[in-house]
Amino acid sequence: MGLLDGKVIAITGAGRGIGRAVALACAADGASVIVNDYGVSIDGSEPSSDVADAVVAEIEAAGGTAIAIADDISTMEAGERLVQTAVDKFGRIDGAVCVAGILRERMLFNMSEQEWDGVIDTHLKGTFTVFRAASAVMRKQDGGGSLVAFTSGVGMWGSVSQANYAAAKGGIVALMRSAAVGLQRYAVRANAIAPVAQTRMAANVPGGTAETGEPEDVAPMVVYLLSDEAKDVTGQTYTVVGGKVALWSQPREIRSVVKEGRWTAAELAEKLPGAVGIDRLPMFEYIEMMQKRGRGSGAEAGGAEAAKQ
Ligand SMILES: NC(=O)c1ccc[n+]([C@@H]2O[C@H](COP(=O)([O-])OP(=O)(O)OC[C@H]3O[C@@H](n4cnc5c(N)ncnc54)[C@H](O)[C@@H]3O)[C@@H](O)[C@H]2O)c1
Repeated sequence: MGLLDGKVIAITGAGRGIGRAVALACAADGASVIVNDYGVSIDGSEPSSDVADAVVAEIEAAGGTAIAIADDISTMEAGERLVQTAVDKFGRIDGAVCVAGILRERMLFNMSEQEWDGVIDTHLKGTFTVFRAASAVMRKQDGGGSLVAFTSGVGMWGSVSQANYAAAKGGIVALMRSAAVGLQRYAVRANAIAPVAQTRMAANVPGGTAETGEPEDVAPMVVYLLSDEAKDVTGQTYTVVGGKVALWSQPREIRSVVKEGRWTAAELAEKLPGAVGIDRLPMFEYIEMMQKRGRGSGAEAGGAEAAKQ
């Protein structure tokens, strides 16, 4: 008995890295899998259907059931086709996992419109296209469904040299939370994973990451979130790295100051530092820690090398 027996799961970016590991794990736990991957290079160029086909062959060789689709998931048509394929071939869609991603690293002051758009389109719009098409079917079917997005620590913390990527990943968390609150009444859940794993994408991070693991370490958490065992879990973001699973906090107001009527700027300048103050960015601490280890600014934060770009 698998945790996903009888379920139909669509996964984007499933041809390589973490998406591939998730696809293999879902199939091994009993799901029929739709494997989407545009088969592109790290910056989103040179599409190919090879990697999606290869993962389907792997799943079938292990006795599982899968279908390959080599679409660019940033288009509405691709999101609809992914979900429609699940419905046409298997009669329903129980889970949708949005893993597809690219990197176009550049300091903000040098970033081109094309570098911005490509990253936002693949990550943020590529999650919207699938969540939109999947939720339209899930809300009408028995048992609802489970949506899983892929974010990153930099989506919460910011990034030195990947403002496009950090903005997309922050947007994905807001999209996931909106899906969670908007779809709760239809028994559709939404959660996000902020993974760290050794893949070609991680190999492009200047200075490396403080912690690391394998794509196969991330996959079981996704299987759990897709399963009925997680029926009460929605609106959550989890980091998974190696054997560690960590829950991210939800943003809340932490301190406030109130007066009758409107503040003047001069009053704020006087009162605010003592009464409310600031909440220092964790990324500043992370950069300091990585610098002490002699690894530049480290991680997706980017560093001295990145600042030259
Ligand atoms: N690896 C890490 O440490 C790490 C850290 C934080 C976040 N993430 C996130 O995890 C996810 C998986 O990353 P990975 O490290 O496995 O990367 P990866 O490069 O190994 O795999 C990404 C896959 O997405 C596919 N893809 C790219 N654009 C696509 C598109 N438009 N349509 C369909 N498929 C497309 C690529 O062809 C590739 O196979 C990404 O969303 C990434 O941002 C990874």
